Amino acid sequence: MKAITIPRPDDWHLHLRDGGMLQGVVGHSAAHFARAIIMPNLVPPVVTGQQAAAYRERILQALPDGSDFEPLMVLYLTEGTDPDDVEASAKSGLVKALKLYPAGATTNSDSGVRDFDKVIPVLERMAEIGLPLCVHGEVTDSAIDIFDREAVFIETVLDPLRRRVPGLRVVMEHVTTRDGVDYVKSQDADLAATITTHHLIINRNHILAGGIRPHYYCLPVAKRESHRLALRAAATSGDARFFIGTDSAPHPTDLKENACGCAGCYTSINTMSLLAHVFEEENALERLELFASRNGPAFYRLPVNEETMTLVKEDQAVTFPTGFETAAGHVTVFDPGFETFWRPKSD
Ligand code: DOR
Ligand code: ZN
Repeated sequence: MKAITIPRPDDWHLHLRDGGMLQGVVGHSAAHFARAIIMPNLVPPVVTGQQAAAYRERILQALPDGSDFEPLMVLYLTEGTDPDDVEASAKSGLVKALKLYPAGATTNSDSGVRDFDKVIPVLERMAEIGLPLCVHGEVTDSAIDIFDREAVFIETVLDPLRRRVPGLRVVMEHVTTRDGVDYVKSQDADLAATITTHHLIINRNHILAGGIRPHYYCLPVAKRESHRLALRAAATSGDARFFIGTDSAPHPTDLKENACGCAGCYTSINTMSLLAHVFEEENALERLELFASRNGPAFYRLPVNEETMTLVKEDQAVTFPTGFETAAGHVTVFDPGFETFWRPKSD
């Protein structure tokens, strides 16, 4: 096959940041994606409906002229989140989800949740109105090995929480393990998961073998190969509960190439080429549209985009910049470690 046409994709997990970084990155997402779920882990975080409305305006202002990219806003769940504000922001159409960061789990998660009892009233309200909760699924206990934190979270936090709040609609963000995939598959349609582009491509050897590669470091950290294969199988299966969320997360290059490097891979530029490559490798190109364009809108109860994107397989490898400058510093682009020949073209 030399070309496939799919409904224009959406990114169900994206970090756009703010200020100069936002200005420097938003065009990459808008070039390929119609909509994106915008992560609220700014400093300070996007906690209230009013803050989400203001952030949405800043994103729209930063878009290239003529772009109709639609940011889907998310509130950062804190122990002080007001259920009435959540309901009003959801009913107005502004807010499409809340994000649960266990405090200390990742970048700017300090305002996240320590005591889950305190957020039960908000979660109950969300279950009532059908508003999804996006979950960063890792425990933060320093005694738990970092490679086990997702599996332990599912067993000790997520499953008990879902039992406590029946009907709560949950997206396990960026699943990285077979345990995560199996848990999603064992549950009903109230539970879904996003999978990132980079977790379909790298395992932990890519980060650590033969030298430490800070641009492959992200959270949750990539796991061993058997887990990567489970993610590939889930993403390419067509199962409606799995969809793309790139977790593209720009950091200045000097803060990643650092004695204490930041977590995040930047894939907004090359995600669609890389996904086509991965799906072709898995003989599943015909299911790319489910993963990239249909399963996400179905879960979020939004229409599939009417516009289309054609991915063309070229004879020459498609090249991407290795990095780019922004007013907030240089950003390094995720290097998959192989050539890809798929070029996305908006129709
Ligand atoms: O790698 C990551 N980067 N994982 C996260 O959970 C947060 C993100 C960021 O904001 O940089
Ligand atoms: Zn993220």
